[in-house]
Amino acid sequence: MASKIIILVLYIFIFSESLPARAQTLIRAGYWDSDDGFPVSDVNSALFTHLMCGFADVNSTSYELSLSPSDEKQFSNFTDTVKIKNPSITTLLSIGGGNNPNYSSYSSMAGNPSFRKYFIDSSIKIARLYGFQGLDLSWNQANTSRDKYNIGILFKEWRAAVALEARNNSSQSQLILTAKVAYSPLSTAAAYPVDSIRQYLNWVHVITTEYSSPTWQNFTGAHAALYDPNSVSNTEYGITEWIEEGLSADKLVLCLPFYGYAWTLVKPEDNGIGAAATGPALHDDGLVTYKEVKNHIKNYGPNVQVMYNSTYVVNYCSIGKIWFGFDDVEAVRVKVAYAKEKKLRGYYVWEVSSDHYWMLSQAAAEEDKRNRQNKRLLWAIVLPITTACILLIGFLLYYYCWMKNLKLEAKASKDSANSQADAGDFNSNDPDLREYSLADIEVATDRFSIENKLGEGGYGPVYKGVLSDGQIIAVKKLSKTSTQGFEEFKNEVMLTAKLQHVNLIRVLGFCIDTQEYMLIYEYMPKRSLDYFLFGMCLTA
Ligand SMILES: *[C@@H]1O[C@H](CO)[C@@H](O)[C@H](O)[C@H]1NC(C)=O
Ligand SMILES: *[C@@H]1O[C@H](CO)[C@@H](O)[C@H](O)[C@H]1NC(C)=O
Ligand SMILES: *[C@@H]1O[C@H](CO)[C@@H](O)[C@H](O)[C@H]1NC(C)=O
Ligand SMILES: *[C@@H]1O[C@H](CO)[C@@H](O)[C@H](O)[C@H]1NC(C)=O
Ligand SMILES: *[C@@H]1O[C@H](CO)[C@@H](O)[C@H](O)[C@H]1NC(C)=O
Ligand SMILES: *[C@@H]1O[C@H](CO)[C@@H](O)[C@H](O)[C@H]1NC(C)=O
Ligand SMILES: *[C@@H]1O[C@H](CO)[C@@H](O)[C@H](O)[C@H]1NC(C)=O
Ligand SMILES: *[C@@H]1O[C@H](CO)[C@@H](O)[C@H](O)[C@H]1NC(C)=O
Repeated sequence: MASKIIILVLYIFIFSESLPARAQTLIRAGYWDSDDGFPVSDVNSALFTHLMCGFADVNSTSYELSLSPSDEKQFSNFTDTVKIKNPSITTLLSIGGGNNPNYSSYSSMAGNPSFRKYFIDSSIKIARLYGFQGLDLSWNQANTSRDKYNIGILFKEWRAAVALEARNNSSQSQLILTAKVAYSPLSTAAAYPVDSIRQYLNWVHVITTEYSSPTWQNFTGAHAALYDPNSVSNTEYGITEWIEEGLSADKLVLCLPFYGYAWTLVKPEDNGIGAAATGPALHDDGLVTYKEVKNHIKNYGPNVQVMYNSTYVVNYCSIGKIWFGFDDVEAVRVKVAYAKEKKLRGYYVWEVSSDHYWMLSQAAAEEDKRNRQNKRLLWAIVLPITTACILLIGFLLYYYCWMKNLKLEAKASKDSANSQADAGDFNSNDPDLREYSLADIEVATDRFSIENKLGEGGYGPVYKGVLSDGQIIAVKKLSKTSTQGFEEFKNEVMLTAKLQHVNLIRVLGFCIDTQEYMLIYEYMPKRSLDYFLFGMCLTA
């Protein structure tokens, strides 16, 4: 009983939601793009668990994976280079996200079984050749239902191929397969093949940015809004839709945009979120990297105040007529905490080269670590206390049951009433059996006289007797060869008594001599004693 309770409590404990084992480390991923000209060796890979090397492409005539000669040079030792600062980092080769890829060749590739095979086989070959541990498809423009359908098939075949490839070589683990996808599975013209993603991809990099279109006249300032009271275009909404469509939270990796937008304000004094603007500032599309924003702020002196808006989870500031909206340290921390809280798989930064002295990458990694340390600290306190409590409760229960058993035993052996044995109910308390003294039995059977001997069964002789109160009994002496101990004997008597049926003979009790065990039955002359006493299910 007590042990069952302990096991139950431990079970609840071990499989509860908040177990430390479940609080796994977030994936802290980052995209590195050769187009940025940022040296691989400058990447602070210690702040990441995964790095995506971008971007490979699809050859528009052979449909194989292709790398430009200059990329090939950098990609071939990308993994070795980032492993210098972080030997345990995982690298993935990302395909399709570069400057103006020819997406119609992706469409053609995905729509044809042979082309898919060329692509898949070559991608695995190149990943292995350069030491990448996975492949990532950044085909952001797949927006027709035909493309989406074909992508579903591509993922399935890709997974089958990497599984087969890994089976071929036991010293290599299976390649990771991921994809970059829109903020919601339903936000593009055609829905994503969620089933295929769920079954065949390790996780997806969700583009949780770009919620405000470049119609800056109506810019809300929330291009990467975590929440947005005025629109369904926000991270919380998209993540919820992915989960509702059937993808589990632990397959979703959140984007931390290391960039923002710069707009020219209509009135410099009207500079809150959603203020009127006349157009993009600094660059044609208004895009600015975090690094650029920070440099602007630095150049304009200490008067620039960066604000944080917790409704959208975004930072902003204005310098003269230029308004900046971006994710600074505060926004990044809140988003990492959000990923934790929603039990998402992790986050990825877009892109590592846009960080400013690794401030954001560091803030994100610290937020992840802080959460884990809090959990660990909490568990370091909770676990021993809970364990101690469980052990104490268990011990008390055990002690209680033990005491109760002792009392029952005492009751069973001391009760002198010759009451009815409990017939049939197996779950009830022990039948009320009487322990007869050897003297009583000797008197009743006339010292086991030959005259009183009724016969000899498999387990010993049976005698007839008359108790002092006139009750006629049958006494079965159990063979001395029986190896049973006192406890076993008593249990067996109890069992026999419980098993009694109205048509069978009733066990009245037992008698224990130093050497011999005896069973005392009610004597019923109308029935065959053989049947009663030797055929009964008492097995010694
Ligand atoms: C594409 O593949 C074809 C045929 O293998 C090859 O001749 C061509 O150079 C490749 N193009 C690129 C850009 O790699
Ligand atoms: C990677 O390749 C580049 C160019 O070939 C070379 O300069 C660099 O030393 C290599 N780095 C490592 C870690 O092998
Ligand atoms: C783009 O890809 C398609 C299909 O592979 C091909 O027919 C077309 O020539 C490519 N366009 C360019 C500019 O390479
Ligand atoms: C779909 O993608 C193509 C590029 O392949 C792009 O030209 C087109 O504008 C996209 N359509 C939509 C509705 O996003
Ligand atoms: C597995 O190994 C065999 C023999 O080495 C080779 O012929 C085959 O192509 C390999 N298959 C894959 C999927 O790598
Ligand atoms: C198996 O994988 C190991 C480790 O990557 C590699 O060194 C070896 O050449 C592979 N063997 C085959 C037969 O591909
Ligand atoms: C901005 O919003 C106003 C009012 O909602 C609308 O009339 C106007 O067309 C919008 N402008 C742009 C460029 O989207
Ligand atoms: C964030 O900005 C919006 C738009 O200006 C405003 O309505 C909201 O009150 C701000 N939130 C906070 C917490 O200041």
